[in-house]
Amino acid sequence: MNPATEDRTKNQGEADRHALESDHKTLRGLMDQMGGLVAKLAAGDSSVETEMSGLLDEFRRLLVLHFDREEESGVLEQAAEAQPRFGRRVDELLLEHGEMRQSVDELSAGPGGRGWGDFQTRFDSFRSVFETHEQAENEVLMGAYLDDIGGHD
Ligand SMILES: [Fe+2]
Repeated sequence: MNPATEDRTKNQGEADRHALESDHKTLRGLMDQMGGLVAKLAAGDSSVETEMSGLLDEFRRLLVLHFDREEESGVLEQAAEAQPRFGRRVDELLLEHGEMRQSVDELSAGPGGRGWGDFQTRFDSFRSVFETHEQAENEVLMGAYLDDIGGHD
């Protein structure tokens, strides 16, 4: 690759990584807000139901956009190409996107007849998967960044 092309590719990769990391912060913030509301709902405070449903819709919308952006940018695959040690983890992360899309759809349907206590259990389990997932992605992205700055220059 000639140096100018390589620079453009690097800059694009860096812009993509920043955008993804910023998505992670936004999603995590929404997750924290929802965690507080779910605790109230499970304790019987139904006054925050509308707020919860709005946040859940917003979270789901942003999560789907985020996964699309992550997949279309190809940054995870690029990280795996540059650093084969990330390969298996990246494959797992991309598979998890499908599972998480399904889980967030199910959560978006609300507690149904099963009540907010049951919803809280499902929410907490999704939250733990989400946080582990995004943390692993941050590590892959950070590893790719360190390789870039320590790389060909
Ligand atoms: Fe992500």
